[in-house]
Amino acid sequence: MKFEHTKKIKDIIARDKKVMLTTTRVGIPFIPSRANGDHIYDVSGNEFIDFSSFISVYNIRINDNAHVREAITAQINRLIHASFTDFYAEEPVTFAENLLTMFPKSFGKVFFSNSGTEANEAAIKYSKLFTKRQYTLAFYGAFHGRTQGSLGLTSSMTIHREKFGPFNSTIHVPYAYCYRCPFGKEYPSCGMACVDYIKKYPLKKEVSPKEVASIFIEPVQGEGGYIVPPKEFIQGVREIADDNGILLVADEVQSGYFRTGKFLGMSHFGVEPDIYTMAKAVGGGLPIGVTITKSSLGDVPAGAHSNTFGGNLASIAAAQAMLKYVKSNLRSIEEQAVSKGKTVMNRLNKMKDRYELIGDVRGLGLMIGVEFVKDRKTKEPARKERDEIITESFNNGLVMLPAGESTIRIIPPITISPKKLNEGLDILEAAVAKIDKHGA
Ligand SMILES: Cc1ncc(COP(=O)(O)O)c(C=O)c1O
Repeated sequence: MKFEHTKKIKDIIARDKKVMLTTTRVGIPFIPSRANGDHIYDVSGNEFIDFSSFISVYNIRINDNAHVREAITAQINRLIHASFTDFYAEEPVTFAENLLTMFPKSFGKVFFSNSGTEANEAAIKYSKLFTKRQYTLAFYGAFHGRTQGSLGLTSSMTIHREKFGPFNSTIHVPYAYCYRCPFGKEYPSCGMACVDYIKKYPLKKEVSPKEVASIFIEPVQGEGGYIVPPKEFIQGVREIADDNGILLVADEVQSGYFRTGKFLGMSHFGVEPDIYTMAKAVGGGLPIGVTITKSSLGDVPAGAHSNTFGGNLASIAAAQAMLKYVKSNLRSIEEQAVSKGKTVMNRLNKMKDRYELIGDVRGLGLMIGVEFVKDRKTKEPARKERDEIITESFNNGLVMLPAGESTIRIIPPITISPKKLNEGLDILEAAVAKIDKHGA
């Protein structure tokens, strides 16, 4: 369906610009108004196919889980907020018990917040408390949030950090971005130079490993460009942590909740971290952040970390209902992420044969990135073309988000119908064909 850029849409955006402080807006005039599974409409009745899952939140059906809506309604009719962090409430405890069954047995403690960045803030502080160390190691390209602590770890674009530093207690090291190896090598003959580098340089010349509390890692780098590292990379980082008494924190805010075909992205790598952080999809549309720690790490002193809204009853009701749904549809959700992921990868790889503009296609489950380049030899990022493809697709009814310098992320809800998935891919291909100068 052709997008109709109505006066109503223009007016709302003009009003927004007047009163709202600028955020990240990707440049498409998308004003969603109502949705029910595959059917998403904006304020003017334009219909869309969604390849964004509303920024990785609607992994499972867009506003289409009646039992989630009913659970929220029932809860808010009883009590919306219980001041869980100061008083007590049963619902967050029950949810924590249920959520823990999705994690390896060694994980036994949970902290609730309202967002991904807060889940990471908690993990930064807990790591410092647990280890009595002060430094944190993170990766170039990482995105862990935009509040002052997590921003120190975020390193996907300088605009995020500009004027907010210095960030004294973080050391950044290269991620295994094999398509653009920072060491100019090729996998697998590289011998995991990126893992070696961590041992030889920062941990030898800059900071003693005895002072490093944690290493933060995204199992698949999200905002940084949808980068899937080799297994040996994550395993090598785990080894460095083990050898030096450093805690490994897996940020599953974007990769978690079945996005990669498993509940935890980390499970693909055969690695168990010490702390997990999650948010986005956990609340089925309501805000919730979760920090999950290994029982062996112990507890934290009362008052050392807390908040007002953590364990908010409405968010917990949504998260609990969503968890109940996924637990009773576990096999189907995992299979759908894997099989639809294959459909997308096959189609994108075929497109790559046809269009020079596509430099790389990579993904795990239904967490897929297409990187656009001006020239396959020089790999010069085709940022402008990437943005044009997003706009052209939007004008034909497909919502997508960028990632990294010139990547588009393909993250439809895992429950998207095969028909809509293929229609979306058709729209994307038509847009690539239009923007690509040398294609078939
Ligand atoms: C991996 C990762 N961590 C943390 C965050 C921050 O989450 P929030 O925007 O909920 O603070 C994001 C957001 O995109 C993310 O992708």
